[in-house]
Amino acid sequence: MQEKGMFNRPAEPHELVPEDYFAEIDLDSCFPREQPLEVDLGCGDGRFVIKMAAHYPERNFLAVERLLGRVRKVCREAKREGLENLRVLRLESLYTLEWLLPEACLDRVHLLCPDPWPKAKHHRRRLFQRPFLEAVVRVLKPGGELLFKTDHTGYFEWSEEHLDDYEGLKRLDWPEGTFFYPKTDFQIQWEAQGKVLHRLRAVKPE
Ligand SMILES: C[S@@+](CC[C@H](N)C(=O)[O-])C[C@H]1O[C@@H](n2cnc3c(N)ncnc32)[C@H](O)[C@@H]1O
Repeated sequence: MQEKGMFNRPAEPHELVPEDYFAEIDLDSCFPREQPLEVDLGCGDGRFVIKMAAHYPERNFLAVERLLGRVRKVCREAKREGLENLRVLRLESLYTLEWLLPEACLDRVHLLCPDPWPKAKHHRRRLFQRPFLEAVVRVLKPGGELLFKTDHTGYFEWSEEHLDDYEGLKRLDWPEGTFFYPKTDFQIQWEAQGKVLHRLRAVKPE
């Protein structure tokens, strides 16, 4: 009999609930079609990933989010939109990259408006640092990309420095309008307050 706990919560429609949280996910069994895969880390209310999945039916999307209320919201929206190419995973981002995703399975990793942890004593909690970059390189295919946005100038400069110090990814230009890239909920919120979003794009060399 299954023990009581988070694992026997009924799955939401479109939710990906791994059979084993200590083994790599079998991605073939997660989506109806085998096609390029992108991950949105900390998807929040999911505006970005819903629009991406609708725009690119020929790609699969995995949204990762730790808050149950947000997971439920994204799952409901995905069902309403009939998005068979989108799954939502309720889990911690770095753990997902380091342990659940198979090596070289992703075409793109999106990290959009993550928590900036502005106080110096909290900087070590920032996701964008070497262990994250190593995990990103592990899961990206050669030629795969990391896309990052933040409104927080300090976090952006921190991220640029960590990327410069890391040899596994090469920075690319990302002019406005390079490709379809919808705004996230937080981006809309920050821009309404007059804030400017910084962005960074990097590729895993072939
Ligand atoms: C500032 S919000 C940005 C949400 C969305 N990307 C956007 O731009 O609208 C950060 C989101 O990441 C989630 N989050 C923060 N740390 C996380 C982690 N370590 N693993 C998974 N989700 C995380 C939060 O719950 C929140 O929904």
